Amino acid sequence: MRITTPTSDPSRAAADILAVTVAKPARVEGALASLDKALGGRIARLIDDGEVRGTRNRLTLLHTDGDGVRARRVALVGLGRDPGQDDVRAAAGTLARAALSVRARTLAFVAESSPLDTVATTRAVVEGVTLGGYRFDRYRTRDRSDRARPLTSLALIGGNRAAARRAETVAEATNRARDLQNTPPNDLGPDELADRARAIAGAHTQVRVEVRDERWMRARGMGSFLAVARASSRPARLITLRYAPARARSGVVLGLVGKGLTFDSGGLSLKPARAMTGMKFDMSGAAAVLEATDAIAGLGLPIKVVTVVGATENMIDGGAYKVDEVVTAMNGKTIEVTNTDAEGRLVLADCLHYARTQGVTHLVDVATLTGAVVVALGDYFAGLMGGDDEFMAQVTAAGERSGEHVWRLPVHDTLRRLMRSHVADMANTGPAGVAGTIFAARFLQEFSGEGPWAHLDIAGTADLSRSREDEFPASGGTGFGVRLLVELAESLC
Ligand code: BES
Ligand code: MN
Ligand code: ZN
Repeated sequence: MRITTPTSDPSRAAADILAVTVAKPARVEGALASLDKALGGRIARLIDDGEVRGTRNRLTLLHTDGDGVRARRVALVGLGRDPGQDDVRAAAGTLARAALSVRARTLAFVAESSPLDTVATTRAVVEGVTLGGYRFDRYRTRDRSDRARPLTSLALIGGNRAAARRAETVAEATNRARDLQNTPPNDLGPDELADRARAIAGAHTQVRVEVRDERWMRARGMGSFLAVARASSRPARLITLRYAPARARSGVVLGLVGKGLTFDSGGLSLKPARAMTGMKFDMSGAAAVLEATDAIAGLGLPIKVVTVVGATENMIDGGAYKVDEVVTAMNGKTIEVTNTDAEGRLVLADCLHYARTQGVTHLVDVATLTGAVVVALGDYFAGLMGGDDEFMAQVTAAGERSGEHVWRLPVHDTLRRLMRSHVADMANTGPAGVAGTIFAARFLQEFSGEGPWAHLDIAGTADLSRSREDEFPASGGTGFGVRLLVELAESLC
């Protein structure tokens, strides 16, 4: 999609749809008033009749046939009361969906009609339209001709050019993360994640990539990760991306660790059939950190980043890792396996420790780690955990600004007693049904080393089984984490 920020008169914009926002209570003023005038008072009449009220995400489409304005249609998109950035982004998502459904391909949007400042409006609209227009059709063969074709252009009239470029980079990275997530597990395994990392490194001169195999990991004592990988016919990969900009503004080295389970059957602690569906999404953390790194490098942010992905499947064969096994992690700690379905923390244990050995000062892991976080927080808030209050506040703020919201949960030492094992330093699971999300965080803390560390449990936000009425009108992967991580990186520069 071609995104421009012209300063022209909205009524002159040549587009399939010209969009303006309407907050509640609806009033004919500012940008809306000039458009109303060009349309001979049609907007005012709709508002007077109570047909347009500024209701959040409600879209009214007027057919102009070029009468009064050049665009073929005008869309009035509701923002609701006291709208913020999330409401404008959602409205832009609704606009993209409506555009696709009427086979429109070119959009113009009047930035001045939004109550937010120009930069915030630009970001929200570019993100909303880019994310809202996303479809994953790669595997459909029938009715290709009948399907809506993607939007080709967005003219954000009166928008901010630099903000538009930034938002476009980040939103497109988010959509690429969604492509990785949505790709079925027969076509995306550890090697394909590694291929994507290589492509990212190939696209930026300041990014280097390393893909390590199981032999390399064995030589370094990554016994925790390798136990999970043992029964997969697709060999595990430890993927590292290093972004070193010519001038880094601070001494911060941001470590991004992603859980890359390209399929999680549960292993011998097998998942019931219904819980196994959707476990291709268990690499969502990996998708988020890889594409966030691509966006950070694309924007040339002056901060060093080391991105580590533990990529494997959790499968079953005669040599599969079992409950009762004791494995030794790279940091020397021993773990009794009490449930093979708690595999993510075993993979992350070695990845977190490895990232710290690479000079990381601030560490963030992103993982679809527990079903319990879905129960606790649902599909809008990710769980945030960690011990450093200042870093927790920074991550929370990055979430608010990016529209990827997080909610902090405690990581307390009282959880240690739940971790006790009668043979090893710790067990990988505690009592069933007890504090599953924060238990997992407490376990990870054993491997997170010195310095600020944040754990993001995205099991509830990574994918949607049903679409939402905002910028995610399509079900499937959301790319959750990309926008937050770029925002966080920027705030640490
Ligand atoms: N990948 C799952 C977590 C998950 C569950 C993600 C539902 C998305 C939706 C993880 O590996 C897992 O199986 N966790 C177990 C841990 C338990 C065995 C302690 C869980 O949450 O049930
Ligand atoms: Mn599992
Ligand atoms: Zn898992």
